[in-house]
Amino acid sequence: MDLFVVDGGRRLAGTVRASGSKNATLPIMAAALAVDGEVTLRNVPDLVDVRTLANLLQTLGAAVDRSEGRLTIDANDQSNSVADYELVRKMRASFCVLGPMLAKRGFACVSMPGGCNIGARPVDLHLKGLRALGAEITVERGYVIAKADRLRGTRVYLGGPLGSTVTGTCNVMTAASLAQGTTFIEAAACEPEVVDLGRFLIAAGAQIRGLGTPLIEIEGVEILSGTDYEVIPDRIEAATLMIAGAITGGAVRVENVDPTQLGAVLDKLAEAGVSLTIEANAITVGAGTKLMPIECTALPHPGIPTDVQAQFMAMLSIADGMSVVTDRVFPDRFMHASELIRMGAEIRREGATAVISGVPQLSGAAVMASDLRASAALVLAALAARGESVIRRIYHLDRGYERLEEKLNSLGAAIRRLPDGPGQLPESLQVDSLRRDDGHAVQPSDRRTQKSIANGPAEGKSAG
Ligand code: EPZ
Repeated sequence: MDLFVVDGGRRLAGTVRASGSKNATLPIMAAALAVDGEVTLRNVPDLVDVRTLANLLQTLGAAVDRSEGRLTIDANDQSNSVADYELVRKMRASFCVLGPMLAKRGFACVSMPGGCNIGARPVDLHLKGLRALGAEITVERGYVIAKADRLRGTRVYLGGPLGSTVTGTCNVMTAASLAQGTTFIEAAACEPEVVDLGRFLIAAGAQIRGLGTPLIEIEGVEILSGTDYEVIPDRIEAATLMIAGAITGGAVRVENVDPTQLGAVLDKLAEAGVSLTIEANAITVGAGTKLMPIECTALPHPGIPTDVQAQFMAMLSIADGMSVVTDRVFPDRFMHASELIRMGAEIRREGATAVISGVPQLSGAAVMASDLRASAALVLAALAARGESVIRRIYHLDRGYERLEEKLNSLGAAIRRLPDGPGQLPESLQVDSLRRDDGHAVQPSDRRTQKSIANGPAEGKSAG
C-alpha cells in the first residue's frame, strides 16, 4: 500500500489536463456486453476501477484489449454469465453489467455490490426497473439472478427517496435498448455520464430520446452493433483540480473540461470568491483569491455533484467565516471530516449537514484516506496546510484519479508517493517534534503538557 507525503503551503500555478471520465467509462464498458461486434472506446482513463471492470468483462467472455487511452471490447463469447462476488465487491459499478447481460443473453447472475464508506448502496431501483421490463429476478445468497427471454418495453418510475439513481438509470436504459417496444424511464438521472452512455448506445444503433432530462424514451431495437466512441472528460477530476488552485491561492488552468457540465460547481466557486475564466474547453482559477464562506448542498444533477462535496469541504475549511455543507445524495458521506479536523479544521456534523468554521490555515498531519473523494479532499487540504502531511491508503485515490500527484506536482505541488511502512513518518510529524509554547518538546510522560499548552509557559507547578 502506498502513501503520500505532501509538503504543503505552496501556491499552484500552470496548466493541467483532465483525463477521461471514470463514471462515463465504467457503464459504457459494461454496456459493451449488449453489443454485437467490437467496441472501441477512446479517452479512457488509466484507473484501477477501469482495470477491475476489464477483468470482470473478461471473466464474462469478453475479449478486452487496452493500449494508451484506447480500449477495445468484443463480448461475443457468452459462456459465462455469472459476475463473481470477489470481483463485484471491489467495485460497485460492476453491478452495471446486470442490465446489458440480461438484455443480450436472457440471463445474468451478478453479486449484490454491498455497502461502502460513503453509505448504504441499495440496488432496489435497478431491480424495480428490470422487473418492469419483464425480467424474472430473485436474490439468492447475495446474488441477483435475472432471467428474461425477451424484455418488453414499459413505463417505469425510477426515483428513490434520495432522488434519481445514476447507475440504476444506466442499467435500465441499456436493457431497454434491446427490449421489444418502447420504454419510458421517469425520474431518470440527468448526469452527463448517463447522457454519455446514452450517446454511446445511440452510436451502436439504439434509439433514445430525452437524454439529460428526467424522462428518457427508448425504442427497443433487435441488435446493437460495434462502434468507435470517445468518452467525455472527467468533470469531477476537473473540479478537484480547480479546487486545488483555489485552496492554495494559485492560478490554475484546467483543460479538457466542458464548463456546461459543471454549472453548479462554478456558481458556488464564484460565490466563494474564486475568480474564474471560462472558455469552451478550459476553466482557469484566478490567483490569490480570498475564500469566502458559502452554503452548498450536494444534489442530483444539475446540482452540486456529491462527488465534489468532500473537496468543497476541504476548501471551505480555510474560508473566512462559517460555511454549511449538506449532502442530499449520500447523507453519511463525511468520513473526510474527522481527518480534516486532525489537520486543524473546525467542523461540526449534524446528520446530513456539516458546519465548517473557517480557520486561517490548516496544519500538516498524518491522516487516513477512506474513500475515493475523501482521499482527494485530504490531498487538497494537505496542499494548503502548513508543513508536511502523510496520507495513507492512497489506493482509494488510485481507483478514480489518473496520476493525480504527477498532475499536481506539474503545477508546483510537492507530493511524494512512497510505500507505506515503518519509519515513513517524516520527522516533522513525529511526536517528539511537537513543541510546547515554551519551545520544549512534548514528553509522553509530561503531565504539565496540557496545562502548559493551555496556559502558556509552565509556572513550575505540577498539573492538578
Ligand atoms: C454513481 O453511483 C457514481 N458512481 C457515484 O460516484 C456518485 O456519487 C453517484 O452516482 C451519485 O452521483 C458511478 O457512476 C460509477 P446512485 P450510484 O444510484 O449510481 C440511492 C465516485 O466517487 N439509491 O445515483 O451507485 C443511493 O443510496 C462515485 O466516483 C437507492 O436508494 O449512485 C443514493 O443515496 C461514488 N436505490 C442515491 O440513490 C437504488 O437502487 C444516489 O445513488 C440505487 C440508489
